[in-house]
Amino acid sequence: MDTTIEQLPIPATPDAAGGIDFARSAAVSNEVERALWGHDDFRLEVAERLTMMQPMPDRERVLGVARVGGEIVANARLGFPQRDNLRTAYLQIEVLPAHRRRGTATALLAFAQRQAAARGRTVLMSWSDAPTDGAGGPVLVPPTGAGGFPADDASSVLALRSGFELVQVDRQSVLDLAGLRPADGIAGGLEVQESEAAGMGSGHYGLVGWTDRCPDGLVADYALLRQRMSTDPPLGGFAQEEESWDAGRIRREEATALEGGATTLVCAVQHRSSGQLVGHTILERFGSRPAVVYQEDTLVLEEHRGHRLGMWLKAANLRRALGEWPDARRVYTWNAEENSFMLAVNVALGFRPVGRTAGWQKVLP
Ligand SMILES: CC(C)(COP(=O)(O)OP(=O)(O)OC[C@H]1O[C@@H](n2cnc3c(N)ncnc32)[C@H](O)[C@@H]1OP(=O)(O)O)[C@@H](O)C(=O)NCCC(=O)NCCS
Repeated sequence: MDTTIEQLPIPATPDAAGGIDFARSAAVSNEVERALWGHDDFRLEVAERLTMMQPMPDRERVLGVARVGGEIVANARLGFPQRDNLRTAYLQIEVLPAHRRRGTATALLAFAQRQAAARGRTVLMSWSDAPTDGAGGPVLVPPTGAGGFPADDASSVLALRSGFELVQVDRQSVLDLAGLRPADGIAGGLEVQESEAAGMGSGHYGLVGWTDRCPDGLVADYALLRQRMSTDPPLGGFAQEEESWDAGRIRREEATALEGGATTLVCAVQHRSSGQLVGHTILERFGSRPAVVYQEDTLVLEEHRGHRLGMWLKAANLRRALGEWPDARRVYTWNAEENSFMLAVNVALGFRPVGRTAGWQKVLP
C-alpha cells in the first residue's frame, strides 16, 4: 500500500474538525514511546499534546503525518522558534514499529526539510533515545567525548545516512521517590543533602518557592534565569543561540502549562543583599500521570556558583514535591554527559541512569 505524507491542521480543541486525526497522531507518539521503554511513563493525553502544539508567539508548530491505507502510522513534529534561534528547526520523527524499514521516516524527513527551507531555517536539531539496558554493542561518541549512543540503533543509522551529526549525548536518569519518603525512614538522605548545602549558602542566600505562577515582583529576574538556561548548560555541538525571555513569555508558558494539565513547582535562590534571583529549579508533572515527575531546568548564575546552591535548590524542591505531591513516584531528568557538576548532584540525590539521548544536528547549505 502506498504511503502518503501530509501536514495536519492543529485543531483548537479535541472536538474541533481534525480532532480525530490529531488523536490518532498522538496515539502514534504514545505507542512509539511505549515500544521504546516498555512503560507508559512518557504517555501524554490528546488534550495535553494538543495544548503543546497550539500556535504561540514564541514558537510555530507543524505536524506532518504519514498514512498507509488512510491510517496514520508516523509523525514528524516540528517546532520553529519565533523570537530567537531563527535559523533553527526542531524535529521529532516517530514511526510505529510495524511500519518501519519502508522509507517512511525518510519521506517525513524530506517533508521536514521542505518545511524548514520554506521558512529559511538551515539548522535542523533532533533527538533520539535508547534505554541503558541492552548496551554493549558499538557506540557512537560525540565530539565532546562524553557518553555514547548505540551505533546500530535505527535512529543512528537513519540520522547519519541523512546527513545529521551526533553532537551531544545526554544521560536520562530516574529517581525513585518511594525511597525518599519519611515513612521509609530514609528521608534523612534528602534532608542531610539539603541542610549541608544550605549551610554553605544560607548566610548570603535564601530560597523562595512558588507553584505554577511566579510572583509578579520576581518575574523579571526569573525571565533572565530562563534566558540563561538556554545557553549556560553544556551545549555540545548544538548551534543553539541564547533565547529571548521576558515577563510576557513567562506568563504565556505558565498559562500553556496549566491549560495542558501540567503543574510546576519552582524553587529559586535569592541573593539576600541585592534581592536578585540567582538560580532556579523546576519540577513538573501532568494531571493524567501524577506518579511521573519531570526535573526540568536547574541553573545557578555563573557569578554565584561554588556555594552548593544547585544541590540546595534541588533537594529543597524535591522535598516540597514529596509533601505536595504524595502520589508522585518517580522523577525523570536529562543531563548532558559532559555536565559533570549537575550529574554529581543528581547521583548524590539518588538518581540512577536508565537511558541515553542522542542529540543530532544537520546544517543545511
Ligand atoms: C528511527 C525511525 C524513525 C526510522 O523509521 P523508518 O520509517 O523505519 O525509517 P526508514 O524506513 O526511512 O529507514 C531509512 C534507512 O534508515 C536505516 N534504518 C532504519 N531502521 C534501521 C534499523 N532498524 N537497522 C538498521 N538500519 C536502519 C536504513 O538505512 C534504512 O534504509 P533501508 O531500509 O533502505 O536500509 C524509527 O525506527 C522510529 O520511529 N524510532 C523511534 C523514534 C526515533 O528514534 N526517532 C528518530 C529521531 S532522529
